Amino acid sequence: MMNFEWNTAMSATTVRTCSLKTEQSVWLNEFSDGWEHPFLIIDSEVRRLWDNLLQPAIMSASGLYIMEAREVLKNTFTLSRIWDSMSAAGIHRDTPVVVIGGGLVCDIGAMAASTYLRGLRLMLVPTTLLCMVDACLGGKTGVNLASAKNQVGTFNPAEKILIAPDFLDTLPNREFKSGIAEILKTALIGDRSILELLERMDIENPDKNSILKIILKCLEVKGGIVTEDLRETGKRMLLNLGHTIGHALESASEFRLSHGEAVGLGLLGEAAIAVNRGGNRDLPGEIRGMLKQAGLPTGVNDMVSGEKLSRLFKRDKKTRRNGRIWVLPFDWCDCRLTYLTPDQEEKALPFVMSLLRV
Ligand code: GLY
Repeated sequence: MMNFEWNTAMSATTVRTCSLKTEQSVWLNEFSDGWEHPFLIIDSEVRRLWDNLLQPAIMSASGLYIMEAREVLKNTFTLSRIWDSMSAAGIHRDTPVVVIGGGLVCDIGAMAASTYLRGLRLMLVPTTLLCMVDACLGGKTGVNLASAKNQVGTFNPAEKILIAPDFLDTLPNREFKSGIAEILKTALIGDRSILELLERMDIENPDKNSILKIILKCLEVKGGIVTEDLRETGKRMLLNLGHTIGHALESASEFRLSHGEAVGLGLLGEAAIAVNRGGNRDLPGEIRGMLKQAGLPTGVNDMVSGEKLSRLFKRDKKTRRNGRIWVLPFDWCDCRLTYLTPDQEEKALPFVMSLLRV
């Protein structure tokens, strides 16, 4: 068991780790000390796969909402159903909310917790690698609008995050690899030693100690950033590395590319723009090598055109009146917020496309 704490001007988040296999009682202990009888929001697949483990927590819960983790359900309609379910359960201001699932369920569950009765205490139990290394920390909540992802949300850091890497035992391989892309992103932003840990780990058969070390290192990097800039007025934008191109690729592929796969390609494309502006010329090759080693895609076919990507960039939340703020990796731990005008962006696009087409 390890504990970490991050304090921002708004709140404190405690991260605890636990093993589900050897410390069943520890897992149940997490539902004490003010976390008794929570309102539970659980990913339907996690509920199915971990029924025995979850049953005692469910039996003592004040209410339960089971949610399918599908992007089309991450909307205001589902949010409203969660509020209705909270209301039907008769929960109060002092009822804590515990969300157990991946990034999608944590995002919407945390949003319900931050808005119902103007805010309830929140514990997140991430069950995917992507959520463990990134989404669970930093308080972003959100739902999609028809036009784009995560357009409506709040900043509501969880009071407690419980990391139990045993949940990864039942995570599909493709989703595990999606999490690796976010780990690469974090290593590029703030800690190259994460990459060394990743290189030593057998990605097809990871051992729990190695993966836990990597998760905690990623959370340390992210924790340092969100402590300084919770509301993303500056430095936190660095955490969007790979995401401007990544989100556009995800949409352009009609979600055939997973979020992590698209972010991995985004790291590559954004490194191409950085090279064009004086960044380390070896970096795109190094990123490509890492993506390959992780079994992530290293290119896209011609169904994604430069024009389509360029149109999709407009949805990026870093878009400003006359241009966009990009996060460009000039080198390891040297990612820079760089404002590009539409003209500069247009000139950079062919470099991105030539790298992604290889
Ligand atoms: N996933 C990026 C952030 O939390 O800011």
